[in-house]
Amino acid sequence: MSLLQVKQVNHTYHSKKLFKWKDQSNMVLHDISFAIEEGTCLGLIGTSGAGKSTLGKVILGIERPQQGQVLFQGNDIYHTDKATQRKIRRDLQVVFQDSYSAVNPRMTAERIISEPLENYEKLTIAEQKRKVSYLLERVGLSDKDLKKYPHQFSGGQLQRINIARAIALKPKLIVLDESVSSLDMVTQSLILDLLRELKEDFGLSYLFITHDIKAAFTLSDTLGVLEKGELIEFYDSKDQFFSSRHPVVLQMRESILAEHPRFRSVPTRVKMG
Ligand SMILES: Nc1ncnc2c1ncn2[C@@H]1O[C@H](COP(=O)(O)OP(=O)(O)O)[C@@H](O)[C@H]1O
Ligand SMILES: [Mg+2]
Repeated sequence: MSLLQVKQVNHTYHSKKLFKWKDQSNMVLHDISFAIEEGTCLGLIGTSGAGKSTLGKVILGIERPQQGQVLFQGNDIYHTDKATQRKIRRDLQVVFQDSYSAVNPRMTAERIISEPLENYEKLTIAEQKRKVSYLLERVGLSDKDLKKYPHQFSGGQLQRINIARAIALKPKLIVLDESVSSLDMVTQSLILDLLRELKEDFGLSYLFITHDIKAAFTLSDTLGVLEKGELIEFYDSKDQFFSSRHPVVLQMRESILAEHPRFRSVPTRVKMG
């Protein structure tokens, strides 16, 4: 059984105008189906407004789709009992793009990371302190950072704290919605290294949402392209992506080739002229 299965999801945001949501042209997600296997990363790329964040919210249980199903370990997340829902909320975490708005500015790093533990695990004070120290160390920070507030961290450091909070309960799947997109190139690459390492060590799965193809290649085992609410193609390798003849992919490829000329050395590109 796949860890996550999305089946024929359709979604439209309700318009204030009566019945307007029935209009297909407003559809934000159209007939979306895919699966994520345990321990793998599915990258999801697409231009701004394609519906990536909406799909992330549908999976997280935040935006209930009008049609279709989201199955997590076989359970329909929108039609299950309270206890299973609570278990799913624990196993399914998220890291958003904006590290600052994801945290309470009045909480120390220690409290931010402790919050999920307090909600789900009955640890003694000493056990909880040990766990928070361990988590900070896992994301490349240290006990020196325990008492600091969000404004005392850089964007990259604060994203590490968000990651520590996300992994605190040993989840199965983390939705990464543009989680590295607002970081500079060097920090971005360090956070991608950390995410890859955590994936291996904890057997984590990711839905890695990004508009950055280079970042998507770095972390993903499989890559899907979402365009205007439709999943148009999946690729298991960079070569497959570069061999695609789909007009949307051809356009994306031109834009990355302009931005990252070294991709021109990819053999398939030479073959295609
Ligand atoms: N809460 C909302 N209410 C109404 N429309 C929304 C809402 N959120 C997103 N949209 C619209 O849905 C479309 C897809 O948005 P989004 O999922 O954020 O795309 P992406 O993350 O790929 O940039 C856009 O046209 C956006 O304007
Ligand atoms: Mg988005």
